[in-house]
Amino acid sequence: MCGIVGYVGRRPGQPIILSGLRRLEYRGYDSAGLAMVEPDRLAVVRAVGNLDSLFAAADGLDSSSCTGLGHTRWATHGRPSEENAHPHQDCGGRISIVVNGIVENYKSLREELVGRGHVFTSETDAEVVVHLIEEHMGDGLAAAVRETVARLDGHYAFCATSVDEPGLIVGTRHEAPLVVGVGDGEMFLASAIPAFLCHTKRMVVLEDDDVAVVRADGVTVTDVAGGPVDRPAQEVPWDDDAAEKGGYETFMLKEIYEQPTAIADTLAGRLDDDGGVDLSDVGLSDDLLRRLRRIYIVACGTSYHAGLVASYALERLARVPVQIEVASEFRYRDPVLDAETLVIAITQSGETLDTLVAMRLSRAAGAPVLALTNIMGSQATRDADAVLFTRAGLEIGVAATKTHTAQVAALLLFTLHLAEVRGAAPTDELIRVGRALRNVPQDVQAYLDNHRGLDEIAERYHDRRFFLYLGRHTGFGVCLEGALKLKEISYIPTEAYAAGEMKHGPIALLDEGSPVVVVATDGPVYPKLVSNIEEVRARKADVIAVASEDNTAIDELATAVLHVPRCDPWLAPIVAVVPLQLLAYRIARLTGCDVDQPRNLAKTVTVE
Ligand code: M6R
Repeated sequence: MCGIVGYVGRRPGQPIILSGLRRLEYRGYDSAGLAMVEPDRLAVVRAVGNLDSLFAAADGLDSSSCTGLGHTRWATHGRPSEENAHPHQDCGGRISIVVNGIVENYKSLREELVGRGHVFTSETDAEVVVHLIEEHMGDGLAAAVRETVARLDGHYAFCATSVDEPGLIVGTRHEAPLVVGVGDGEMFLASAIPAFLCHTKRMVVLEDDDVAVVRADGVTVTDVAGGPVDRPAQEVPWDDDAAEKGGYETFMLKEIYEQPTAIADTLAGRLDDDGGVDLSDVGLSDDLLRRLRRIYIVACGTSYHAGLVASYALERLARVPVQIEVASEFRYRDPVLDAETLVIAITQSGETLDTLVAMRLSRAAGAPVLALTNIMGSQATRDADAVLFTRAGLEIGVAATKTHTAQVAALLLFTLHLAEVRGAAPTDELIRVGRALRNVPQDVQAYLDNHRGLDEIAERYHDRRFFLYLGRHTGFGVCLEGALKLKEISYIPTEAYAAGEMKHGPIALLDEGSPVVVVATDGPVYPKLVSNIEEVRARKADVIAVASEDNTAIDELATAVLHVPRCDPWLAPIVAVVPLQLLAYRIARLTGCDVDQPRNLAKTVTVE
């Protein structure tokens, strides 16, 4: 949510900032703006709606300035409007700022500033920042930013620039992302790496309350008191083409097809040919793992579904009680936590506010926190005791796909490690699952290479107004994920249920021809699931089953079958979710939806 782009260098900044904003579109926004520092004035344009409106407005600006700021805004305080769009200017029109996040104490600050004669032009919480900076400009912009930070409560990142100090941008962050891209004679500031990835692969990751003083020839970082801090530049682990569609019609389709690589990279160096696991990169001691008496998994959306899928294996193989909760509920339920409860927080972005708050709350209660994330340097990596990285690469499609399957693979790795350390499962069973896990990338690839029947099913059902999804055991999380994918990118209402619960209510929804998607890969409850399919068919509803490739018996039972490679039941969810991603994708395309940027959704949800 909200995207910041700053540029200071030797080239005209306007096209660089605008293309950076284009690369942050996936974060979600409803208005956008640009401010360029001209000699003795700011040139500012803002527009409501998508970036095309801003690009059109910026045409008239035609600035050749080499310093400027850009912003995409996802409205929280104040409706989407030109006045509320960033950048915001001070009363004198000499300072400009862009803010991501929320300034919680903005009301009292605004009253105070108005009392001292400041004139506000927007309804936003963010505008207080520029007026505070204006008040403290006596010792220059960097000092003014430091003074301002001391007055703010909330979680935010912001950048400021001033016509009185051309060639300078000052940026800071507090529990919201901001990275500095280090180029050759030019520097970038951004909420996320893709904004500058086509210009440089070197970056400085800022920590909370760092103040970065950025000029074309380099960056100096201090703490809020002005004391120097050392933030060495590091290499971005993604290729330049990660932010490009690479010949695919959408990012989502590209990312679906990247899953074999995402899973293989996540397993690389952590799983040997004999199924042995090495998770020494994670930083959790064997002693702690042996002492654990309980595991809590907290996450949101698709990450929650990954946790749900893996929770069955964790409990069964590692013999630890596992509780799983959506982060937005967990934080308010006053959970019972202690030093022997491991909290696993799953968040691909590492920035989801509900999950971050759940993590902080857990640590404050003395529970060790393991973060499972895809993003180096993200807030989750700072707020955790240990980090297990997925290595799925950059995911731009708002609908998570490759990060989900990589999460499940990583959680299964962790399960095998925990089970081994605790001596909780027979070694030969762990080896069998470990070896099968090594083959999962090939299984997913095999399905992607041959998904016969899928396009016909999408064509046949794409105009239906409701889909029911059913699954049991590990297939329950898969059906929840399949239903979420369809509803978020096609806007078709879906309901996902544990198949055994169907008779307690959802069965009333079924009618002749209602599409019911059933995750029916092999597993301990497969025979029970067959009974549920019979119940659906008895109501004349249609069953679209996902089943193992050599399960021909199900062809007689279901209306249509999506056959996937047969694999170990613990791993089947990774393969079984792929046809559901593709089915949702095809249906959304047939209904003309924008799958990469569905309405109302943001890739990273940094508000409560
Ligand atoms: O970055 P996170 O994994 O914490 O994100 C959690 C959810 O916001 C995310 O999975 C969301 O549900 C996606 N739209 C799913 O496609």
